[in-house]
Amino acid sequence: MRLTLTRPDDWHLHLRDGAALASVLPATARRFARAVVMPNLKPPVTTVAAARAYRDRILAALPRGAVFTPLMTLYLTDRTEAAEIAAAKASGFVHAVKFYPAGATTNSENGVTDWRHVRPALAAMEQHGLPLLLHGEATDADVDVFDRERVFVERTLPPLRRDFPGLRLVLEHVTTADAADFVRTADANVAATVTPQHLLWNRNELFRGGVRPHAWCLPVLKRERHRQELLKAATTHPRFFLGTDSAPHPRHSKETTCGCAGIYSAPAAIELYAEAFEAVGALDRLEEFASQRGPDFYGLPRNTQQITLRQQPWTMPAEVPFGEHTLVPMRAGEVIRWRLDDGQQN
Ligand code: DOR
Ligand code: ZN
Repeated sequence: MRLTLTRPDDWHLHLRDGAALASVLPATARRFARAVVMPNLKPPVTTVAAARAYRDRILAALPRGAVFTPLMTLYLTDRTEAAEIAAAKASGFVHAVKFYPAGATTNSENGVTDWRHVRPALAAMEQHGLPLLLHGEATDADVDVFDRERVFVERTLPPLRRDFPGLRLVLEHVTTADAADFVRTADANVAATVTPQHLLWNRNELFRGGVRPHAWCLPVLKRERHRQELLKAATTHPRFFLGTDSAPHPRHSKETTCGCAGIYSAPAAIELYAEAFEAVGALDRLEEFASQRGPDFYGLPRNTQQITLRQQPWTMPAEVPFGEHTLVPMRAGEVIRWRLDDGQQN
């Protein structure tokens, strides 16, 4: 069986930098026309000048002949000024601003300590129509790790929406029924991205036969009930779209006493979504989710090229090169049901 769809975009992606960037970029550029590139480098991408330089490094790292557009983001800090937001909008290549609650995840130390501290920047985003991308997790030490998203949705989103009703928001990598409900019942300014791991796995995957560091990401995998709600939203609702959150870390940083959060899904990203949609009989909605709702929300044109997937099983390698290290991809050593039909080898 074959499935042809408009070439998709990835609305949430970590590409890293340097040799790591060169290792992971080809997998994404092979499948996607564009990707929203996360700014949580060290140091973070907090200015338009830094975003321009990072964009140039990404373009320079593209394989010969690849046609791929990185959509850049700025990293919001307590000190981001309204003028930087205006400059971001004017640049034409910065498409959103990323909100990490300080301490929530990888390289979030410079993130926002309290959303009320960034009011001037939020007002500028609302004014210029630049979307705010939220890592929606409460970081208070007394909040259970499995409740962090729900608590953020309950505590932070209502006052944020009340004070900035015209601000366009993307609740990134949603993992709970609570977040899905919030987005479904909000107005057209609110959307969400959904990762392949949160559509295919529940939290049992973290402990299948032993502890599995390569299934550890933030927000952490949740109960089956939540996965079912995410599948329902992704396959039916116009404001849920594809964002892999593919987040590579070298093998040794994951298989250690305090491992990094992040799942590297880029080498089978669209194939994994096809599996998730197929499992609930919704393959006919994959193109909407992967190729239409994202550009519609961001106000960008839909792509005109196509890709074809073939139902032909292949085995994901146990590891892939990552600069001078190696990297363990999602579903390493396991069978992937769909294959990208573009003449290249997996
Ligand atoms: O699992 C994650 N990894 N979640 C994030 O929010 C950040 C990401 C990363 O950069 O590794
Ligand atoms: Zn991310």
